[in-house]
Amino acid sequence: MSMLVASQAVMRLAKYLAHAGVASRRAAEEIVRAGRVTVGEEVVTDPARDVDGTIAVRVDGNDVAIAEDRVVWMVHKPRGVVSTAKDTHNRPTVVSMVDAPGQRLYPVGRLDAETTGLILLTNDGDLANRLTHPRYEVPKTYVAHLGAFVGEKALRTLREGVELDDGPTLPAEVRQIESGVLQITLREGRKRQVRRMCTAVGHPVQSLERVAFGPLRLGDLKEGRVRRLSPAEVQRLRDAAAPPARAPG
Ligand code: URA
Repeated sequence: MSMLVASQAVMRLAKYLAHAGVASRRAAEEIVRAGRVTVGEEVVTDPARDVDGTIAVRVDGNDVAIAEDRVVWMVHKPRGVVSTAKDTHNRPTVVSMVDAPGQRLYPVGRLDAETTGLILLTNDGDLANRLTHPRYEVPKTYVAHLGAFVGEKALRTLREGVELDDGPTLPAEVRQIESGVLQITLREGRKRQVRRMCTAVGHPVQSLERVAFGPLRLGDLKEGRVRRLSPAEVQRLRDAAAPPARAPG
């Protein structure tokens, strides 16, 4: 499984061309020596020149890019780390937590800066779109500390639907796992949704952690740690966001 994006791994020009499928390593060296290759605006005739894919490589004027595997990483986001790919205030980002040269990763959905827990990063734009599209209703589970026991009436409202300024929420699974601590599973993902829902029933959130995303659980991945998902886990994610099978006939 691969897609065509420029690689950011540093490698020698001839090897880069061979990886991109232009020619064998030996033939690529000849192509470079013949002056047919440019890196940026410069004609490069040294096959050993290092390139990292951040500057355009062209053969006879045609762009060359390396096929990059599609990957998904799980990150246990700490508080204070933002889940955008870049931050205008120079705060650390979830993307900067993963050391994966050559992989252009971006976050699947968002967590607030002060929310901790499970966030996925991927270079597979199609999978990311499906996992966050409301149509697929991929469940996301949070543990919210509210500080005080939540009564039955508030729990029922949270379960059945809370009136927010951008409309009522969909039914949610809500369990009080200990006094003042709720486990909440949502099948939608509006901005600051858990915080707004809890505030609306009179219980502002003191701390919030996402513990599951679709079929995946944070498990024992420690705060600040990351791990690459196995092919079987990626397949379970794909299944969770698969278009519904067509009815026969
Ligand atoms: N709901 C919130 O309020 N914040 C998050 O980060 C995720 C869900």
